[in-house]
Amino acid sequence: MKHIVVVGVGYVGLVTGTCLADLGHRVTCVDISKERIESLKQCIMPIYEPGLEEMVRRNVAAGRLFFTTDYAEAINCPEAPAEMVFIAVGTPEGVDGEADLRYVRDAVENIAAVMDHPLIIVNKSTVPVGTGDWVADIVRSRQSQPIPFAVVSNPEFLREGSAITDFMNPDRIVLGSLDKEAAQRVAQLYLALRAPIMITDLRTAEMIKYASNAFLATKISFINEIANICEALGADVKEVAAGMGYDKRIGRAFLDAGLGYGGSCFPKDVKALAHMANVQGKHPQLLEAVMQINADARRNIVHKVRALIGNSNSPLHRLENRIVGVLGLAFKANTDDIRDSQPIDIIRMLQAEGAMVKAYDPVAMPNAARVLRNVQLCENAYATAEGCDALIIATEWNEFKHLDLNRLKQIMRQPVIVDGRNLYEPKQMKEAGFIYRGVGRGYDL
Ligand code: UDX
Repeated sequence: MKHIVVVGVGYVGLVTGTCLADLGHRVTCVDISKERIESLKQCIMPIYEPGLEEMVRRNVAAGRLFFTTDYAEAINCPEAPAEMVFIAVGTPEGVDGEADLRYVRDAVENIAAVMDHPLIIVNKSTVPVGTGDWVADIVRSRQSQPIPFAVVSNPEFLREGSAITDFMNPDRIVLGSLDKEAAQRVAQLYLALRAPIMITDLRTAEMIKYASNAFLATKISFINEIANICEALGADVKEVAAGMGYDKRIGRAFLDAGLGYGGSCFPKDVKALAHMANVQGKHPQLLEAVMQINADARRNIVHKVRALIGNSNSPLHRLENRIVGVLGLAFKANTDDIRDSQPIDIIRMLQAEGAMVKAYDPVAMPNAARVLRNVQLCENAYATAEGCDALIIATEWNEFKHLDLNRLKQIMRQPVIVDGRNLYEPKQMKEAGFIYRGVGRGYDL
């Protein structure tokens, strides 16, 4: 059993801390937000993540998981001084697309100021290549007396909505450090997971994270580009993706055409990687194209709605007097996260063209209500569809996969569905009497 401190109780920190406790370690989670820590002490989750609450409860009850706002208490706890401190704070997007490291710097300064014994500082936040060296410089400059420490980069690859399963079944563990012994000690934490463990230098580990996310984002933009061409040529992108995916060199994962990627990682990480390349005088052409195709995927949905129900007499407000329903507000299913959410962006574009918007999401509505204006939030899919001229399927929640089509047709003003997640089959929708557009499905099926 190791004594571990995790700084930051957002997605990454809370999942990492809780899962490490579940593997038998003693974990103290620190956060500057008193409100979050007080809630967590009562097992109230700050985020929606399937399975997390139950796991937190279990480990708190077992005396392995603790929450505090006090760095010194967490790190120097007399009966359990920490061997390693994980930094898992947010790295929001800065003004030029670079990662904003202010929370990482605060965390490192706080750790350095209180540490009274040797520590391994493990960075889990996604940070620009080279940050590990910068962290070491800060620790050295902030320590009141020189105490040995090592910096290890341990990027996370967790997906929201399946973060616990991802943590417990990783494809690989990446550890980067100039201090190989420190990296080996962090590696011991993960031995029970039986995953390949790769130990590299700091910068390479940091780069593996960016390159992995950028590659997955590229797969998504690639298939969205193919979807566009499929629409023009009458092919079906779903079958194209399946046909490509059987090739082991390609793989079927992340080839779902739709609204493009959203969320807290891909948009920010692709932009940050392009920014790092530009600063070095490189020209990241592929990454630029990936971002442009991704932005187009959102616009294309609005084009489709406009083409189907638009008012040609009102060129600037083509959707004036039109009511559009949007099913889903989260950036993907099984999360309440609306950061860089495609549905929210699409709603704003619809509103800019004069549309009245109704929307529903099973869990993301409280978050969405904070950022949306003049949207009628409804209690279910049918209340949303009622009276609409078009319905957009924007998040692939299970409950949108088997809607009662007859009921929908009766309650909508026009039977028009734009399916941004390709949940339905064009032929089936046509037979059910709908004017239906998916993404890349070949229209005249
Ligand atoms: C991602 C990475 O998968 C994870 O490894 C990293 O640590 C954090 O970022 P996450 O943002 O939770 O995880 O979501 P993910 O499931 O990867 O999906 C990202 C976005 O891409 C979502 O908006 C999703 O709807 C979209 N997507 C995904 C597609 O449009 N098509 C696909 O085929 C797959």
